[in-house]
Amino acid sequence: MSEPLPLAMVGCGGMGHRHLYGLAELHRTGRSPFVLVGASDPNLDNANSLADQAADLLGRRPSVAKDLEGLPAEVQAVDVCTLPAFHHTASIAALERGWHVMCEKPMGLTLRACQAMIRAARQAGRVLSVAENYRRDPINRLAHALIDAGVLGQPRLLIHNTLGGGNQMMISVWRHQKNASGILLDVGVHFADIMEYFLGPALTAYAQTRLHEPIRHNPIAGRDDAEKRSPAGVYERWQKQMPAQFEATAEDAAYATILFANGAVAQYIEDHAAHGQGLWQRTLYGSKGSMNLPGDRSGQRLQLTLAGKESIDDQRLLDLVPGFRLDPTTAALFGGDRLYEYHFPFPEIDRKLIAVEYAEFGEVIHNQQAPEVGAEMGARAVALSYALLESQVVGRAVSVEEVLEDRLNGYQAEINASLGL
Ligand SMILES: NC(=O)c1ccc[n+]([C@@H]2O[C@H](COP(=O)([O-])OP(=O)(O)OC[C@H]3O[C@@H](n4cnc5c(N)ncnc54)[C@H](O)[C@@H]3O)[C@@H](O)[C@H]2O)c1
Repeated sequence: MSEPLPLAMVGCGGMGHRHLYGLAELHRTGRSPFVLVGASDPNLDNANSLADQAADLLGRRPSVAKDLEGLPAEVQAVDVCTLPAFHHTASIAALERGWHVMCEKPMGLTLRACQAMIRAARQAGRVLSVAENYRRDPINRLAHALIDAGVLGQPRLLIHNTLGGGNQMMISVWRHQKNASGILLDVGVHFADIMEYFLGPALTAYAQTRLHEPIRHNPIAGRDDAEKRSPAGVYERWQKQMPAQFEATAEDAAYATILFANGAVAQYIEDHAAHGQGLWQRTLYGSKGSMNLPGDRSGQRLQLTLAGKESIDDQRLLDLVPGFRLDPTTAALFGGDRLYEYHFPFPEIDRKLIAVEYAEFGEVIHNQQAPEVGAEMGARAVALSYALLESQVVGRAVSVEEVLEDRLNGYQAEINASLGL
């Protein structure tokens, strides 16, 4: 293997720590292309916490800095896990230094931020990879292979329904603030990416969006004894310091119809304010049958029902796609290159998928290739998410293109102003 690439983590909050666990997971397989040499965060407690854990997990303590200037000169790549409002500033500053960047989703907080990142990556001639983990789930890889092989026939309709959340805080206060990345962007951008992964480019969207719950509640506030229920169990130490209730300024529900270039239509409900029965449904109908997909990162089986046949969810799925193989790193981490299910606790699934992102980031730097989710695709997912919010403002179906190109941006105007863009 070639010399390890010196990497720095930029942003050491919840996802920064989860990325460290992903890097350590990859390290344990002996496949890590990186050596972690720096950790930067204006909150030095967070950077130090990450550095301390890195010392245990990776056998070397990265140096700690409050900003990029303080990182070691040897850095060649950074992993940007800052708050979304700083994705573009951190990524562009890193690219201008000649560093390669892997940036968490949403790629930028607005399309104007994304477009600035695209230009910076082109000018620098460096990799800008967007860390989209959901599509790397082995079950979503299998679903993609089945769709690609035409098993469902021509895709016609995607029903995507996620409902739940009530008036509770989703992980953190900032996920309910319009200028920080509201929940429809924070979560919706994953679903936007997955929809384009399965169906190809989206053309138009019409949506009604709502802010149903203007006051959100944080049950962890002030509690030292809270059970670790947050994603990967990392957020409680910050959540207990967040207020018990606060004002939400970002929309929390979208009801949309989305048209794809291949003719398929998505009926899309993303409601993070629903009371009563929670709902998860992702069902794709094609001209030959339908496919029910489990929650991302669950390891549960997908179920295929072809016209006139019984539903299948086992080895027979794999028989339909004889050429389907997971990439070697995913196969090593999940225990096989042809999987229709897997069983790990969530924190382990989470870090394995992040490990896969790191492996790909290292590979594309080394081979000078384009990443699977590069800047253009990362921006498309942001555009599709904002298309829903822009549609509500103008009261019509909007094209993803006009949002992507920052020609339609009424909803984002206030956010751009707050970013100084
Ligand atoms: N892919 C996923 O499944 C997933 C899950 C959670 C979060 N995320 C993404 O990861 C990012 C971070 O989310 P989080 O949950 O870790 O939030 P968080 O609030 O826990 O952490 C954010 C961290 O960024 C730091 N920060 C702020 N400005 C910075 C700057 N200029 N430079 C460096 N660090 C800075 C903060 O001090 C904090 O430590 C977000 O973009 C979020 O959408 C992705």
